[in-house]
Amino acid sequence: MTEVTREDCVARDASDPLASFRSEFVLPEGVIYLDGNSLGVLPARTAAHLEHVVTQEWGQGLIRSWNDAGWFDKPRTLGDRVGGLIGAGPGQVVVCDSTSVNVFKALSAALGLRPGRDVVVGDRDNFPTDLYMMQGATGTLGGYEHRLIWADGPELADVLDERVAAVVLTHVDYRTGRMYDMAAVTAQVQAAGALMIWDLAHSVGALPVDLDGCGVDLAIGCTYKYVNGGPGAPAFIYVASRHQDSASQPLSGWHGHAEPFAFTPDYAPAPGITRFLVGTPHLLSYAGLESSLEIWDRVDLASLRAKSLALTDLFIELVEARVGEHVEVVTPRDHAVRGSQVSLRHEDGYAPMQALIERGVIGDFRAPDLMRFGFTPLYVGYADVWDAVDVLTDILTTEVWREPRYATRHAVT
Ligand SMILES: Cc1ncc(COP(=O)(O)O)c(C=O)c1O
Repeated sequence: MTEVTREDCVARDASDPLASFRSEFVLPEGVIYLDGNSLGVLPARTAAHLEHVVTQEWGQGLIRSWNDAGWFDKPRTLGDRVGGLIGAGPGQVVVCDSTSVNVFKALSAALGLRPGRDVVVGDRDNFPTDLYMMQGATGTLGGYEHRLIWADGPELADVLDERVAAVVLTHVDYRTGRMYDMAAVTAQVQAAGALMIWDLAHSVGALPVDLDGCGVDLAIGCTYKYVNGGPGAPAFIYVASRHQDSASQPLSGWHGHAEPFAFTPDYAPAPGITRFLVGTPHLLSYAGLESSLEIWDRVDLASLRAKSLALTDLFIELVEARVGEHVEVVTPRDHAVRGSQVSLRHEDGYAPMQALIERGVIGDFRAPDLMRFGFTPLYVGYADVWDAVDVLTDILTTEVWREPRYATRHAVT
């Protein structure tokens, strides 16, 4: 049994130092949104900012906005601001392309920095696009061996040797919410002479990250989840300063050229992080990210982490007390290895999630049997957690989820 009451949760919301951020987001009436780890909520200021970019910068400024509205520099200026969320000093992050494309660029660059090594290491349980892009990048180059680690399989120490060129891992696992020790793993990989590439899709905006402090080589991530940049918001890539001028990437488009407006026939990479750009930035998507970064500029990441852990602790405590016999909490209890989501294993998983969504509690499902709940401290409160578990309890104990209509599979789960 738990001693926690709804009144306790309401009191915690009242004394929450991050509580004022909630009013900066558009939360639909009757919805408890626990899926910000998939698509973040719309910031209240974003519609007006998009309108400004469309009607003024595009509508009135037209081609002049490439210079006058700073469009041409957005990948770098927004990159530096995203860098502030992940412990990256200026000039090491550009906002561009998708996470998948950036995996390709980061891995290709890493392989070029480690000539003579012919092994790439990944995690079999990583989000599949990272594995697919590893296969694509090494397939294009040819001659690489893949070694995979996983929970019950080989460990990193088992696969690292002098043949390994690069290791690609996601910092917080998208299924379980388990988090790697970034400093320790980076040091372990580098001690073997390899380069470390982190996918920060489930870390950026979810918890503090210290890329420079951990000596990371390269990183990538997206901005449509915890960062709230909007559907299809641009991704980012980080390349540590020490690697930039010796690194090259194969998608040699004109925005990565040293002199894009010289229009010379041969490619010559720009100095620094700019060489990781490819083509014309998707300016309207950048506008959504730019708007959400106005909020992030005011967020204390230590407070964010403290609340994230408190929310996930509360969710785990209430779930175990009220529906512990129906689900298994697969997310680690240990704060040191927990991200900002909690995943519950259930005999079905999909149908109960559909029943939850119908009742306004929005999480998602990850095959084969996980119900996933993301906790975004800027707009989720303690009473939301209590209410969500209350609905979950009703759905699981009444077994209403067994009604056939909840079994219909949608394309996006
Ligand atoms: C770890 C990880 N990497 C990458 C992606 C998606 O890549 P992209 O932004 O290219 O669709 C996801 C999507 O959820 C993810 O969880």
